[in-house]
Amino acid sequence: MNEFLHKHILDTEQFTKDDLDFLNQKTRIMERLLESGKSFGILNGRLLASLFFEASTRTRLSFEAAMERLGGRLISTVGFQFSSISKGETLYDTMKMIEAYADIAVIRHPVEGSSRIAAGAVQIPVINAGDGAGQHPTQALLDLYTILSEKGSLDGLSIAFIGDLKYGRTIHSLINLLRHYKVHLYLICPEELKLPEIYKKNLDKYPITFEETTDIKRIWDCDVAYVTRIQEERFTDHKEYERLKETYKVNKELILASKKNTTVLHPLPRVNELSTDVDDLPNAAYFRQAKYGVVVRMVLLCILLKAEIKE
Ligand code: NCD
Repeated sequence: MNEFLHKHILDTEQFTKDDLDFLNQKTRIMERLLESGKSFGILNGRLLASLFFEASTRTRLSFEAAMERLGGRLISTVGFQFSSISKGETLYDTMKMIEAYADIAVIRHPVEGSSRIAAGAVQIPVINAGDGAGQHPTQALLDLYTILSEKGSLDGLSIAFIGDLKYGRTIHSLINLLRHYKVHLYLICPEELKLPEIYKKNLDKYPITFEETTDIKRIWDCDVAYVTRIQEERFTDHKEYERLKETYKVNKELILASKKNTTVLHPLPRVNELSTDVDDLPNAAYFRQAKYGVVVRMVLLCILLKAEIKE
């Protein structure tokens, strides 16, 4: 039995290669169950607490859609403004209440490490849906599944990460998963937004290799280009954001000039870094990527609630 099945999902360090194979295989099965309408009822009578203390469209709605499509129900709170945290309640106390109400909780919070504090307060499973500039493990799992679906396999791929590698939590998490595969990364970003050392160190002793560059044209050597926005809300100096925000723009012309059939991914939302003229290329996989979010999260909810996924 995979270790993580009995735990929370807090970061991507917790996953072994076996866990990832297992999850990808279950996601394939869940895709078929969802399509045939047979997923409904698997989580009948179970309750998800959806706690989003930071802006979200895809992550919150896909978790909620996942729970509903499994026949489960939800309770939710959005933003500090409408929760007792705005009256001074601690996250610990909030979680103690949630534990009394729901079977599982998903939490997004602006402070790095907060989901670990939340998980430490309760016995029910807790899923990190993004903690500040830290991690976003469920996004990484769906990103991995998208690459697998688009490309057929992972080993041998060259993958570019473009944009804000310093604050981009989806990048931090996905790189941690990709280290289990024989892939080569091009880390493309301005000097000021380089991947934090800790995430580079995590790659030691794994089959992955990487190089850092400021040259956007390196995506012409890549099978996959993972584009991200500059994370405005994480900057302490807004002038620096203004100076860096237009550094890169991925557009149709750039993608069409690639030596490879480069698949374009983006966790979304996009701002100016990814032109809409890419959307009509078959390589534009970001809306398919968002769609996979529902099925991957269905699998995670089932596993953490110990419900069987079988055809
Ligand atoms: C990302 C996030 O919240 O970290 N969005 C998402 O969950 N799909 C990326 C971002 O906000 O830039």
